[in-house]
Amino acid sequence: MQQSSTLAADVAPREYAGGKMLAARQDGVGVVTFNQPSKHNAISVEMWGGLGQILDEFAADDGVRVVVLTGAGTRAFVSGADISQFEQQRSNADAQRAYDEQTSVGRRKLASFPKPTIARVRGYCLGGGLAIAMQTDLRIASSDSQFGIPAAKLGIAYGLEGLRNLVSLVGPANARMIMYTGERFGAEEALRIGLINRVVAPEDLETHVFELAQIIANNAPLSVAASRLTINQLLLDAQERDPAAVARASVACFDSEDYREGRAAFLEKRKPRFKGR
Ligand code: COA
Repeated sequence: MQQSSTLAADVAPREYAGGKMLAARQDGVGVVTFNQPSKHNAISVEMWGGLGQILDEFAADDGVRVVVLTGAGTRAFVSGADISQFEQQRSNADAQRAYDEQTSVGRRKLASFPKPTIARVRGYCLGGGLAIAMQTDLRIASSDSQFGIPAAKLGIAYGLEGLRNLVSLVGPANARMIMYTGERFGAEEALRIGLINRVVAPEDLETHVFELAQIIANNAPLSVAASRLTINQLLLDAQERDPAAVARASVACFDSEDYREGRAAFLEKRKPRFKGR
């Protein structure tokens, strides 16, 4: 595994949404930071726009193979939607529809992002923040993280998309417990019910996630993309699936330069150098 300094250390981040969203890049890993620590990184409408812009840039950047999403500081990943905007922007069903339209561009970009994504979670990961984490491919959390969806404490509803991700990760029984109680729970419980992939000590979180991202970034991109596409397709209802796309992804792997490189590297007892073609 390639050793390197920590992510935040050596790339000056670019600012979006007036500095409330940050983007940085290092060694094939793009990092998106929700940066509103005074509100535990609650996500505002403007931040959704910034997230969409960053994801577009990372999608087009061949130097980015994996994207890590994280929150600024040590207290929160994202504490949910910015409730201070609810009075103006989400006060009834009509306003909610307009809010959904404004934020759905960023949501769709995250859901359909073409490269692997990892949520690096420290502290509060609540409501819309947990929904963001659930839209990523892998969730790694520090042992001091807290999770929850307080919809029932606010009086709001989650749509099909939001709950589809939750139910597919934790099953209906755990999803009901989370939604009906709205209570917060810790990282060990989140791990036990399958909401997150791993729990690590807070001081190890950044390095652990960076090394994991590097492992994925150094693997054959077409193979990782095929797995990602196929697993996502399996989570759709059967009639929504696109078997032709899965078949194309498989053909792309078996006909790739990288597959030849993978075989040659194994026989020559060296590390493969994959190019994504
Ligand atoms: N939207 C807007 N502001 C938020 C916020 C959110 N989702 N979450 C936290 N904040 C703000 C608080 O209002 C507070 O602002 P203030 O300093 O101006 O009073 C600041 O962030 C610090 O939060 P505070 O409540 O003092 O910290 P805490 O550690 O005691 O509690 C939380 C943290 C996250 C448990 C608590 O703030 C909370 O329950 N937030 C709402 C979570 C939620 O319902 N999210 C779902 C929205 S869909």
